Amino acid sequence: MAAAGGLIVLEGVEGAGKSTQLRHLASCLERVGLPVRTVREPGGTVAGDEIRRLLLDPASHLDARAEALLFMASRAQLVADVIRPALDRGEFVIADRFFLSTYAYQVGGRGLDEQDIRRANALATGGLVPGLTLLLDLPSGAGLERAARRGAQDRIERSGSAFHARVRSAFVGFASQDWQDRHPEAGPVVLIDASGDESEVSARIVAAVARRWPETAGTMAGSNP
Ligand code: TMP
Repeated sequence: MAAAGGLIVLEGVEGAGKSTQLRHLASCLERVGLPVRTVREPGGTVAGDEIRRLLLDPASHLDARAEALLFMASRAQLVADVIRPALDRGEFVIADRFFLSTYAYQVGGRGLDEQDIRRANALATGGLVPGLTLLLDLPSGAGLERAARRGAQDRIERSGSAFHARVRSAFVGFASQDWQDRHPEAGPVVLIDASGDESEVSARIVAAVARRWPETAGTMAGSNP
């Protein structure tokens, strides 16, 4: 019988350390013998990688609705080709961003209608509900500084500090129980303090995953990245 895996999503503002933490978490799960597949959004399929290039290229001119639908198109392909098949095999899938990014950036940041986005997203995901979302939180200014140190800014990073402040406040709102009760499609969302050093943040993440899947991932708690 296949092991009971699940979809774990890492979300948060620019520069919150998602990609590094994703690698730490993947190796912790692998170390206790669990099959893991990692993905990032947008991208992860042939069509998705082309869409990613278009979305992030500072030279692209995109209306907010076109932008939202391109994120959804990349997501639909990734769910169909990679995420669903891996979950059906009983694997853990760890995603660097999923649809809470669309809720934060395109609804919170760009101001698109929430109900429109939720409906389009249900089409893109086929109703897939994440098993756990870890929301890495940093003041958005601090995250942008970290992201800027990585080099040239992409089209979304260039959207301005007011935009990024709206994105961060949208993300923080998703952690409230009231928001989660009204958005069952999101599954459980846990806020993770992303300040402090990498190993401290990693320990917080591992503990949250072990609590969510005590039967399979419970033995990870206490293992260091
Ligand atoms: P990243 O892979 O470096 O995080 O870049 C993806 C960028 O796209 C980041 O600025 C967040 C943004 N984004 C959205 O605006 N909406 C979405 O639905 C997703 C998945 C990402």
